[in-house]
Amino acid sequence: MCGILGYTGDRQASEILLAGLARLEYRGYDSAGIAVLKDGTVQVAKNKGRLKVLEEKTHGGRDIQGTCGIGHTRWATHGEPSDINAHPLWSDDMSVVAVHNGIVENYREIKNMLANHGYAFYSQTDTEAAVKLIDYFYKQSHNPLKAITEAIKVIEGSYCFVMLFKDFPGEVWGARKDLPLIAGQGKSESFLASDVSAILQDTRSVYYLDNMDIVQLKKGVVRFFDTEGYAKHKELSEVTWDAQAAEKGGFEHFMMKEIHEQARAVRDTFGSVFHSGKVDLSDSGLTDEVMKSVSQVYIVACGSAYHVGAAAQYIIEDLAKIPVRIEMASEFRYRNLPLDKNALAIIISQSGETADTLAAMRLARESGIKTLAIVNVVGSTIAREADNVFYTMAGPEIAVATTKAYSAQLIACYVIAMEFARVRRTITPTYYESLIGEIQALPEKIDEILDEKEKLEELAGRFVNARNAFYLGRNIDYAVAMEGSLKMKEISYLHSEAIAAGEMKHGPISLIERGMLVAGIMTQKNLALKIASNMLEAKSRGGFILMVAMRGCEALQEEADMVFTVPETDPHFAASLAVIPLQLLGYYVAVARKLDVDKPRNLAKSVTVE
Ligand code: G6P
Repeated sequence: MCGILGYTGDRQASEILLAGLARLEYRGYDSAGIAVLKDGTVQVAKNKGRLKVLEEKTHGGRDIQGTCGIGHTRWATHGEPSDINAHPLWSDDMSVVAVHNGIVENYREIKNMLANHGYAFYSQTDTEAAVKLIDYFYKQSHNPLKAITEAIKVIEGSYCFVMLFKDFPGEVWGARKDLPLIAGQGKSESFLASDVSAILQDTRSVYYLDNMDIVQLKKGVVRFFDTEGYAKHKELSEVTWDAQAAEKGGFEHFMMKEIHEQARAVRDTFGSVFHSGKVDLSDSGLTDEVMKSVSQVYIVACGSAYHVGAAAQYIIEDLAKIPVRIEMASEFRYRNLPLDKNALAIIISQSGETADTLAAMRLARESGIKTLAIVNVVGSTIAREADNVFYTMAGPEIAVATTKAYSAQLIACYVIAMEFARVRRTITPTYYESLIGEIQALPEKIDEILDEKEKLEELAGRFVNARNAFYLGRNIDYAVAMEGSLKMKEISYLHSEAIAAGEMKHGPISLIERGMLVAGIMTQKNLALKIASNMLEAKSRGGFILMVAMRGCEALQEEADMVFTVPETDPHFAASLAVIPLQLLGYYVAVARKLDVDKPRNLAKSVTVE
C-alpha cells in the first residue's frame, strides 16, 4: 500500500520526507511526491516512477525549501500511475494540498455534488474528490478542523489523509479510518507516517492513532481530536523494535503480515464495486446486456490464481448456470482449443505480468473473445491489454507465496458470479441480498479464524520432519485443497499433493504411511459424508487426520486427530474461510523448519518467462 508522511519542525522538510519515503519503498509503489509549505505558498514535486527520479528532480530536496511538508509513495488503485495522478493533490487555489492512502468509495457522488458547485477535476483519482470536498468545507469556515470533520462525515471507504492548509503555516493535519497512521514526537519537531519504520531514525516516541482520530502537528506539538472536533488525550509510546521489524508491522514475516491483511483486502475489494447499497460492475465492462449475452466462461490463470479460478468454476456454474472452463494459462495457450466467440475470458493474475497468462489473454483477444482481467497491480501489462479490468484491492504483496491477493481474487469472482446470476435470474432477489450480507460478514470471520492461529502453530510442530502430505476435498473444497497444498509445498518444501477426494482410490491411497498428514476440507454439507468416508479410509491406513470443517458441517469429531472449525458462511463463499488455516499451517511448518518464508528457494513473485 501507499506510504504517507508529514513533517513540521526546524529542519528542511523535503530532505526528511525523501529519506522517510525511501524507508517506505518496501511497501511497493509506482509514483512518488512531496509538497512543502513556506510563506503561504505550497511547492509540489511529484512523478510517476521511482523515488530516485523525484530525488534527482529536486536535487535531493534542496530545490524545495521550507520546514513543513507532506510526502507520499502511491500504489495506484483509481487512475493509472502517472505524473498527474501521483500525490499530493490539491484544490484549485492550493488552499488544501493532501496525500491519501485507501479508497474513497463514494468518490463519484462527491464529484457530482462538487461539480454542481463549480468544481472541476484534473486527475482520475478518487483522492482529488476528497481534497476538493475538504476545500469546499474549508471555504465555508476557514477552519481546517471543521473542514476535516465535515468532510469525513461524507466520505465513505477506508482512508488516511495527511494535509497542508496554505493559510496555516507550520501545521500538518491528518485523519484516518481503517488504515494506519502514527504520529511521532521529537524535541522541536513532529511527524506523521503510515508506519513507524519511516520515522524511527528521527524519533522513537510515537502516538498510535485510533480509528477516526484527527491529528494536528505543529513544531514539536501533536494534538488529537475526535470526529466532532473535541480535543482528545492520547498516551505517548516508546518504540523498542528495530526498523526492519517495523516494516513488517511487528510480524516476523511479510507473509504473516499479509495473512492478517486479508480481512482488509476482502473488505476493500468488495467496497470498490459496492456503491450506495448496490454492486456496480460497469467499470469492468459487465453491463446487464453483456452478462445476458455471454454463452460460456473461460477462466485462465497460473498458480494460486488458477486455484481461485477452480473455485470460481463451481460457484459461477452453480449460481449462474453458465458453463465454465478453467484452464492453466500454460496449457491454454498451446491447446488449439476451438474457442466460442460469445464466451467471456476471465484472466486472473495478481501481478498482471505472468508470461503464460499474458500470452493466453492475447490469444483469447486475437480470437475475438471479450477479456476481463482480475488484476491486483494497476497499470500492469495484463491490465493495460485486457478489454476490461476488475482491480482487486489487496495492495502490494511482498511475500512470494500469495495470501491476501488470493483472497481478494475470490471476492472478485463471487461478485461476478452473483451478478451473472442476478441478471440471468437464476437466483431469487432474496438470496442475492443474503449473499451480499455474507460477503460483508467475511472479514470479521477471517479475523475470528486468525484468533485461533496458535492451534495451527502447535500442530505444525508435529510435521517438522514430515516428508509427504495430502489435501483432500470435493467441489469448492477441492479448489481449497489445491491452494492449501501449494502453500505447504512452496514455503516448507514438504512434498504435498491435492487430491479430488473421489480419486483417492485410483492410486494416491497407496502412498499413505503411518503419521502422514492428510488434511480434509469439509465445507459443503451435501458432500460431508462422502469426504468423511475418504478420510476414514486414510485413517485406517495410518494417516494423521486433520479436518478443516465449516461450523454445522463437522463430521469425524471422534475419529479425526484434529478438527479445526471455521465460521459458517454461504457454501459458495467457503473457500475464503477454509483457506486461512491452511495458509497458517504452511507458514508455521516453514517457520518450524527455519526456512526463508518470504523468499522460498527457486520461486519468483512474478513469473515473466514461460
Ligand atoms: C508465481 C507466484 C504465485 C502466483 C503465480 C501466478 O508462481 O509465486 O503466488 O500465484 O505466480 O502469478 P500471478 O501474478 O499471475 O497471479
